[in-house]
Amino acid sequence: MSDVDSKETIGPPPNTLSRRDLIKGVIVGGVAVSSASYLFRASTLSGQSARGTGERLLTINVNGQLRRADVMRQETLAWTLRHKLGLTGTKLGCDRAECGSCTVLIDGVPYYACSVLTHAVRDRKVLTIEGLASPDGRLHPVQQGVIDEQGFQCAFCMPGFIMASVGFLKINPNPTRSELAHGVSGNLCRCQDYDKILTALMRGAENMRRASNV
Ligand code: FES
Ligand code: FES
Repeated sequence: MSDVDSKETIGPPPNTLSRRDLIKGVIVGGVAVSSASYLFRASTLSGQSARGTGERLLTINVNGQLRRADVMRQETLAWTLRHKLGLTGTKLGCDRAECGSCTVLIDGVPYYACSVLTHAVRDRKVLTIEGLASPDGRLHPVQQGVIDEQGFQCAFCMPGFIMASVGFLKINPNPTRSELAHGVSGNLCRCQDYDKILTALMRGAENMRRASNV
């Protein structure tokens, strides 16, 4: 084989997704990550729905839009977001208030969406990772911080960490590293990438301060 041939074989294909592209996809909409665990849960809960559990048509304010969905009495916000409204950026990890993957903001405060009933948010404003960027596509400063620092490994936990940080930075815009670590301590990363995550979130905090001083 000639040198030219071997270079062609070794080089990346033209449409290869870079790590930066992958991270950006997850940051904006959580589209690049899947989990067998919630595929399993999906089939279980779909079965519940099929048996009929008193669904009721609700209107909820999500990412500044009024969205309507048929919601079961016992349905969690995480379930409605993901399976009724198609907002899959909100991840389901443990589904029992342990990991923080499902964190969203409700009236500006971080909550585990797996532990909030959708019926309870009818008069409140829900913000998910999909609603964080500006309408013109400009990333939120914390999202940009993750891009800047190339934080996270598989990025499954990323939307939850970002939403938790955004909520925390509203009350403490200039945290020390240890304060920010405490602020997002309700979020777990299975890849154990905490040091890099914190660096990215600290950069996000810096970006936020810079943006507010403009
Ligand atoms: S999925 Fe909600 S806390 Fe883990
Ligand atoms: S980066 Fe993989 S779970 Fe956090």
